[in-house]
Amino acid sequence: MDKLKLTGGRRLEGEVAVSGAKNAALPIMCAALLTDAPLSLGNIPRLMDVSTMAKLLGQMGVLVERSEGGMSLRAERIREPTASYDLVKTMRASVLVLGPLLARCGRAKVSLPGGCAIGQRPVDQHVKGLQAMGATITIEHGYMHAEAKRLRGARIVMDLVTVTGTENLMMAAALAEGTTLLENAAREPEVVDLAKCLSAMGARIEGAGSGVIRIEGVASLGGASHRVMPDRIETGTYLAAAAAAGGRVRLTGAAPETLDATLEKLREAGAAIRKERDAVEIEMADRPAAVSVRTAPYPGFATDMQAQFMALATVARGTALITETIFENRFMHALELQRLGADISIQGNTAVVKGVERLQGATVMATDLRASAGLVIAGLVAEGQTVIERIYHLDRGYEALATKLRALGAKVERIS
Ligand code: EPU
Repeated sequence: MDKLKLTGGRRLEGEVAVSGAKNAALPIMCAALLTDAPLSLGNIPRLMDVSTMAKLLGQMGVLVERSEGGMSLRAERIREPTASYDLVKTMRASVLVLGPLLARCGRAKVSLPGGCAIGQRPVDQHVKGLQAMGATITIEHGYMHAEAKRLRGARIVMDLVTVTGTENLMMAAALAEGTTLLENAAREPEVVDLAKCLSAMGARIEGAGSGVIRIEGVASLGGASHRVMPDRIETGTYLAAAAAAGGRVRLTGAAPETLDATLEKLREAGAAIRKERDAVEIEMADRPAAVSVRTAPYPGFATDMQAQFMALATVARGTALITETIFENRFMHALELQRLGADISIQGNTAVVKGVERLQGATVMATDLRASAGLVIAGLVAEGQTVIERIYHLDRGYEALATKLRALGAKVERIS
């Protein structure tokens, strides 16, 4: 199994291009299920999760063709509206096929995803919403069996803010009869990007990006072309890496307007940030100052940036409090960071991180995607060599990570 070997201590200097957003690409690929016409997508990242989604859709009869940087999908006929455990267990985002399949085929059979490394992650809000739209959903042998002749618009107040839950219901409502109001909806930019793609396909959606989304169902959707938004978490990860290692890094093809909370915290850490329309530059001269963060739904500080900021805090001047409010078990990286010499104590859902002058390289293990990103940042600043095991987690969400870091002057290699 591949590992990542990093030699720490170099400042990062240079420019890299950001990829398309994984968490926008995945739901948007599922939108292809809503129409028999072709959906042509640009800025699709080369990631394991994208391949997994392509495979899942392929199993249902969707024709998927990759081209340079893009992908075209055509669900002319859906052979089998089923998502089996084999794939769902490897990628929870597979549950995003539930809404579209039900809306298009009148039935769907989707495996329950089960727990995962960062928390329990139930899908009860997806189920409740579809039931409110008239679906019958039973759980048998680990599968959700959903049926509805034609979904009906409904007013749905979600118990909590869920990103894929909002996306699933928005896709289902696009083909439902009548109007759906999604209240307490997720406001993440990826929800907005999906709404843009659906609108290009002929859906009638208002309010995406706010807490209330109104969807007027239409009888059918058509094909469209859509360019996937830039990955704000990838962007934030390189910015946090530069803040920890020092130097000057410019990220192109980015969407700085989606990064407010992250940029604000980086400034607080002492970084100079320059935003352009589609690029962002960071310059960090000194050792970072400790900054505390508390994760929250968008526009709050993203849980997907928490591990990277914990890594930053390990070498900062002062003590930072890192509070995780979205997932109950998203501190696995803390133990690994301690192996590198970090001073971290966990108190409930808060990690108290006392910055140390330097970390020391060691062998550590990646536990999930963003935890791995935190370990990479720590490896870039640790003295000597750090080896990260189980980097398949990184391949799920960071395109060409080692290549991009090398372009910034880091000493990184992938070893088998
Ligand atoms: N939740 C429920 N019931 C539900 C749905 C969610 O209780 O029916 C809970 C979850 O257990 C969690 C909270 O609500 O405690 C928020 O979860 P959410 O549903 O928003 O997460 P998600 O949609 O499964 C997406 C991203 C995650 C990201 C979260 C939070 C995708 C494909 N995944 O997950 O990204 O952390 O939103 O912003 O969009 C990643 O990229 O590494 C990643 C994990």
